[in-house]
Amino acid sequence: SDTNSILILPGDGIGAEVMAEVVKVIDWFQDNRGMAFTVDHDLVGGAAYDAHGKPLSDETMAKAQAVDAVLLGAVGGPKYDDLDFSLKPERGLLRLRKEMDLYANLRPAQCFDALADFSSLKREVVAGLDILIVRELTSGIYFGQPRGIEDDTSEGNEGGRVGINTQRYTSGEIRRVARSAFELAKKRDNRVCSMEKANVMESGILWRQEVQWVHDNEYPDVELSHMYADNGAMQLVRNPRQFDVIVTDNLFGDILSDAAAMLTGSLGMLPSASLGAPMANGRPKALYEPVHGSAPDITGQGKANPIACILSFAMALRYSFDRGDAASELEAAVEKVLADGLRTADLTGPGGGDAISTSQMGDSIVAALSSAA
Ligand code: NAD
Ligand code: IPM
Ligand code: MN
Repeated sequence: SDTNSILILPGDGIGAEVMAEVVKVIDWFQDNRGMAFTVDHDLVGGAAYDAHGKPLSDETMAKAQAVDAVLLGAVGGPKYDDLDFSLKPERGLLRLRKEMDLYANLRPAQCFDALADFSSLKREVVAGLDILIVRELTSGIYFGQPRGIEDDTSEGNEGGRVGINTQRYTSGEIRRVARSAFELAKKRDNRVCSMEKANVMESGILWRQEVQWVHDNEYPDVELSHMYADNGAMQLVRNPRQFDVIVTDNLFGDILSDAAAMLTGSLGMLPSASLGAPMANGRPKALYEPVHGSAPDITGQGKANPIACILSFAMALRYSFDRGDAASELEAAVEKVLADGLRTADLTGPGGGDAISTSQMGDSIVAALSSAA
């Protein structure tokens, strides 16, 4: 189809600040690449709670289901920390993921050469890094029943309560995210490493068996290995370039992807795409968001790095709008700006030079697009 519909949900904190820079990039592609976008804006998280008393309204949920791509900034903040669990900003995001059935969360971690010295690891460990974490996003301990906080008066339990969450995976849930990982690997270095804890968890045993089944029956030509997730965390910081695609569950993927962020220099660099099944028009249900959160500590100071959010839009160009060419063009503009030495505050350590603001970074990326065009 020739219309590209987008729903923008800036959310809270720096979410709104980084999304303002993405809007500049969208406008550039409309004006210079003949792409037609219809863009709607709405609320999620604390912003939606302030307006409607809940972190995601049914109207916004319905809009998200209908568009080609949702772009989300970030949700959460100290102002909302004491809200009832069901009203917390994070529930709005989790509802979007669950109801849109966005089971495959793609979290690439790439180390741009210009940033190799900003990683907390040595340049020779991270230079040239290009890995992809595929995190299962709609199941596991984030959603499993039973869950809750209950009274527990069993003898010797000081405080008298118990907190319960359940790790639960069906074979079907594992197979579908495994297929996503194998498909993506085929377009990369053709290697998948699956991470779980099959040594201590039944859900981990099932995970390993089902990933192996998908491999043996459908992708025998992709190289598959298995690793315990704790060892995986260690290997990610010891020698991250040994990996190509990592496929793992919801909670392990959450943690491993934050760890992977520091390989790239900053959490402000990591984009993500959350993809579900194809819609009637053949495009996958999709939501794009930076891996980072609302960063209350720097909100309102013009310090936020907008690159994670801008690279998330590049992923939208590639996965929702079938414009891998435009995605590469945008990624090249980001790389050029970094090579030119432009940095937001998260990337100016000692000797890193003066930081530019969030909006200056957005403007610089747009300028780099124009100068390359
Ligand atoms: P965070 O990602 O917001 O911040 C962690 C650290 O990284 C902070 O020091 C922050 O200043 C820095 N940082 C993050 N993004 C940055 C950027 N773009 N540029 C520069 N620096 C950046 O994580 P947190 O502090 O643990 O959580 C804050 C709130 O955000 C919580 O309410 C949490 O639930 C929420 N959160 C939301 C999402 C999301 O919306 N997807 C993800 C993670 C956390
Ligand atoms: C992320 C965040 C979310 C998660 C929170 C905010 C619900 O940490 O997107 O990584 O845990 O999935
Ligand atoms: Mn996280």
